[in-house]
This record gives sequence, C-alpha cells and structure tokens, in this order.
Amino acid sequence: MIRAATADDPLRIAVLASGRGSNLAALMERLDPTVVIVGVASNRADAIALSRAREEEIETAVFPRGDDWGERDRELCAWLLERDVELVVLAGFMEILTAEVVDRLPVINVHPSLLPAFPGLHAWEQALDAGVEETGVTVHFVDTGLDTGPVIAQEPVPVREGDTPASLHERIQAVEHRLLPDVVRRLASNDIPDSTRSAA
Ligand code: GAR
Repeated sequence: MIRAATADDPLRIAVLASGRGSNLAALMERLDPTVVIVGVASNRADAIALSRAREEEIETAVFPRGDDWGERDRELCAWLLERDVELVVLAGFMEILTAEVVDRLPVINVHPSLLPAFPGLHAWEQALDAGVEETGVTVHFVDTGLDTGPVIAQEPVPVREGDTPASLHERIQAVEHRLLPDVVRRLASNDIPDSTRSAA
C-alpha cells in the first residue's frame, strides 16, 4: 500500500532509466513537493538519464545485468531499501525486473502503447507496422512479465498519415511527460485505489 504523502513528509521514489531520460526530466520538472526523487539507477553506465540526475544532485547508481539476473536485482533492491524508497518508477528502463524487486516494492512503468497492444521494444514502430489508427501511452503496475501488470492510466494518441517512427514517438512522448508525473502525484495523494494494484 502506498501511503498518503505530504509536502512535510514526501513520498520517496526512485527512478530507473536506461536511456535519454526525457521522462525523468519530466518527473523532475512536474512533480510537486509531496514527492521526492531520492535516487536514479540504470542498467547502463552511459545512460543520459544518469547525467540529468547528477545535474540535479540526485544520487545515482549503475546495476548492469551481468550473468546473474537475480543477484543484480537483489543488489538493486538493497540499494532501494537502504534509501527508504517507497515507489519505484520505470522511466524507459529497458529490462524486466525479477520478483527480487517487484515482490518487495511497488513498481510502475510508462509504456508507449495502449497495452496489452505492442509490448516490448519500439512500440511506436510496432504500431506503424500494424497500420493502426490509434496507439497511446499506458502507465501500469509492474509484475515480472514484459510490460504486463494492472493498468493505472491510459491515454490514446492518434497515428497520422505520413507519420514516421520519430514523429509518432515524439507525439507519444508529449503524452508520457504529462501522464507519468500525474500518476505519481495521484499515487502520492492516495488517489488511486489499492484494488488497482491487485487487479488482474
Ligand atoms: C519511452 O517512450 C518509454 O515509454 C519507453 O522508452 C522510452 C524512454 O524514453 N519504454 C518502454 O518501451 C518500456 N517497455 P526516455 O528515455 O526519453 O524517457
């Protein structure tokens, strides 16, 4: 259960990101004082997201997957628990987490499609290849599957004639940058029923 936070006692979140970190930047810009980002971790030492975090003097760490996925996740989870993290936010974290993390802490993810459509990599390209007229953004609780877990919020994004992968992804990201901080704020104010998390 995620507690109701206040500006005096903000919800402590960690963000995991593998790449550019535009969703991390949106979180840093748009969260209100009821939420504090206490750490940013990545599976990649070269993730731009880590530099963005350091610029804001947020603590960072790198946990490469290596051969033993479970051991990596045990170390990652220990790092999160040592910092009293209450919610983990995947913002372009491109690996599946094991039960070592998802059974111990609430984890949410932003994904660039209307799940269950187009899980996995490059969902905007999958949408273009499938010829759909509409795709979108999903924020969901994370389980050990690939972009599975109970949906918290979804918003459609139209596919336009002449869209390229880049133009469609850009339109999707504009929605992500609003929807993800919005869901985190709502979780911090206890505005999302606990039953959402246990829903199938
Ligand atoms: C975002 O579009 C995010 O939805 C996607 O990676 C991108 C990261 O962008 N995540 C997934 O596909 C997860 N399955 P960013 O590094 O600029 O935030």
